[in-house]
Amino acid sequence: MDRETLLVHAARRTAAAANSVSPPLVRTSTTVFDSLDAYKQAQGALVFDGPRYGRSGTSTTFELQRAMAQIANTETCIATSSGLAAITAVLAAHAGPGRHILVSAGVYGPTRVFCDKEIVPSGTDVEYFAHDADVSSLLRDTTSLVFVETPASLTMQMWDVRAICAAAHDRGVPVACDSTWGTPIFFDAHALGVDISVHAATKFINGHSDVLLGLITGTLDALAGVRAYCDRSGAHAAPDTCWLTLRGLRTLAVRMERHQRSALAVARWLQSQPCVQRVLFPALATDPGYELWRSQFSGAAGPFTVELAPCGEDAFTRFIDQLSLFGLGTSWGGFESLVMPAVPHHLRALAAPADAPRLVRFHIGLESPQDLCDDLAAALTALRRG
Ligand SMILES: Cc1ncc(COP(=O)(O)O)c(C=O)c1O
Repeated sequence: MDRETLLVHAARRTAAAANSVSPPLVRTSTTVFDSLDAYKQAQGALVFDGPRYGRSGTSTTFELQRAMAQIANTETCIATSSGLAAITAVLAAHAGPGRHILVSAGVYGPTRVFCDKEIVPSGTDVEYFAHDADVSSLLRDTTSLVFVETPASLTMQMWDVRAICAAAHDRGVPVACDSTWGTPIFFDAHALGVDISVHAATKFINGHSDVLLGLITGTLDALAGVRAYCDRSGAHAAPDTCWLTLRGLRTLAVRMERHQRSALAVARWLQSQPCVQRVLFPALATDPGYELWRSQFSGAAGPFTVELAPCGEDAFTRFIDQLSLFGLGTSWGGFESLVMPAVPHHLRALAAPADAPRLVRFHIGLESPQDLCDDLAAALTALRRG
């Protein structure tokens, strides 16, 4: 079955109310059992998709997890309370005194903060690697995980996931990937060799900007340690957010197509505008990551980053404040367009030189791309005024 068909049909036959197209939302903290035998079976260490206690999920959670595992073309899925909770569970499960974790430079800012403030003080050596680094030369006997995010948040640099997986697997090291940007629709992480794929379902997968949720996919073996960590730390998702995300999942493919079409239209239009120095978007043939994107992704929904010509704070403020269809906010992946100043997290403490280009991150929503370009044209005019 194509992924489009799976999105519609995955996990539906398992719905607790057998004749409902849409599964019921099951909320409970407590599961009760008919017999001691049933109780003992449910508490068994390998029971992942049957109710045990509210924290490990209800039928609503299991339906989303089964659907996501199917769509990601792997065995299993763990839902967590946010995308960041999914990332930190993966990192924490592989951390420990004397261990070494390789992390791609330019990861989502809070991922880096978690590494620096929680993982490093616990005695794990965290090393950031550049997109053109030779990973095989960085792997050590103590390396417990390679964590990559592609493209990188804000700088949009591409990492060669296939090559990283090959190098890491040669040394028996698992690879985790933050696959939020591509989603399983445009990025077949496990087919490229990724052992643990992490998604902030908060973004495209839910798509309606009303939920925080993380999803981790992989084989039962690859996720065993992460699942144990989630059980110990209580990182699990609430059934309400799983229910909403399952609803969002059904329309993921059509939304991604539309996001892609509009993002490309707006990005190409921006490339021809005065004051726009560069559009950082690997789906553009002019982008240095284009070939890698073409070989490892089947589409690109954005978001993307724009380098505006150096300008004063007043002009930059006029540009942002003039935008009326782009909300000023830090998220992406929802139905609505968003904008934010894009300073990579590790550079925020440094004062940018006055002649540095201004980086702005756009998420292109489901509005008409022509209306979005008109809005941007007015903002660019405001930027040039004065
Ligand atoms: C690439 C990436 N990964 C993970 C996250 C974290 O997701 P959440 O906001 O659900 O914690 C974000 C949030 O912006 C993100 O951009």
